Amino acid sequence: MKHLLKLGDLSREEILGILNLADQLKFERKNNIHKDYLKGKKLGMIFQKSSTRTRVSFEVGMYELGGYALFLSDRDLQLGRGEPVKDTARVLSRYLDGLMIRTFAQSEVEDFAKYGSIPVINALTDYCHPCQVLADLMTIREYKGSFKGLKMCFVGDGNNMANSLMVGALKTGMKFSIACPKGYEPDAALLEWAKEYGDAFEMTTDVKKAAEGADVFYTDVWASMGQEEEKAQREKAFRGYQINAEVMACGAKDAMVLHCLPAHRGEEITEEVLEAHAGEIFDEAENRLHAQKAVMCKLMRD
Ligand code: CP
Ligand code: NVA
Repeated sequence: MKHLLKLGDLSREEILGILNLADQLKFERKNNIHKDYLKGKKLGMIFQKSSTRTRVSFEVGMYELGGYALFLSDRDLQLGRGEPVKDTARVLSRYLDGLMIRTFAQSEVEDFAKYGSIPVINALTDYCHPCQVLADLMTIREYKGSFKGLKMCFVGDGNNMANSLMVGALKTGMKFSIACPKGYEPDAALLEWAKEYGDAFEMTTDVKKAAEGADVFYTDVWASMGQEEEKAQREKAFRGYQINAEVMACGAKDAMVLHCLPAHRGEEITEEVLEAHAGEIFDEAENRLHAQKAVMCKLMRD
């Protein structure tokens, strides 16, 4: 594994390897065992969109591993004024040991990897959010013990989260169902890929059907970053695509609820459900730190 550009590039074994290391790093942190796995290594973090969890967890993670993280906003970089990715990538590769990027187009992250000579980590694009899903998988395994026999149900937009979750869930042996309105399905090529998994994958417009027997419920905002202008239209299209008590009643009794956050209460999830499942949702947020430390160790350790 040279980069983390999308989960589809990773084998099941590589995903499990990251999760196992993340568990180990979490254990070490909880027990005050401090090891400088990335002593003196430098990570650049390019943000072209807002962030709370990703920025702080990467920066703290790098610090805890004995390395250093630089926050690089596109408002300050020449990249934001039109310097080409292929030049920026080659320059930053001369200073840094790894690069984390949050941006719009997936092709931009892929280009950083193509033209640079250091590991590149995708910290969210319009297409996917692999770091989030590694933390989600880690959380599911913590709560459920294993992935075997589990069904994950995603309610809402077929967005970056849905794209990564379907890959993560199917690759780790879970069933995956998605309820989304017409016109808001996940990426077409991924839908084609999911056919390999037969009945383990289901897509419907019917939320309750998707929810049947689910062990893990997941949802995300109706309008993602960059879609602010579509807000009104999306509020109409997604009405009813909400995780609430009625939908939860269709799932398993001990079903867990995850949300990548930030959440819009009263839209994709009710206040009641979010707060009833705050335990796992904030463990999930914490696990961003451990999962990303594992990714950085896998990619940047000598
Ligand atoms: N879930 C997530 O990526 O959060 P941020 O946008 O706050 O980084
Ligand atoms: N789909 C959301 C995820 C935020 C973590 C967005 O892209 O804004």
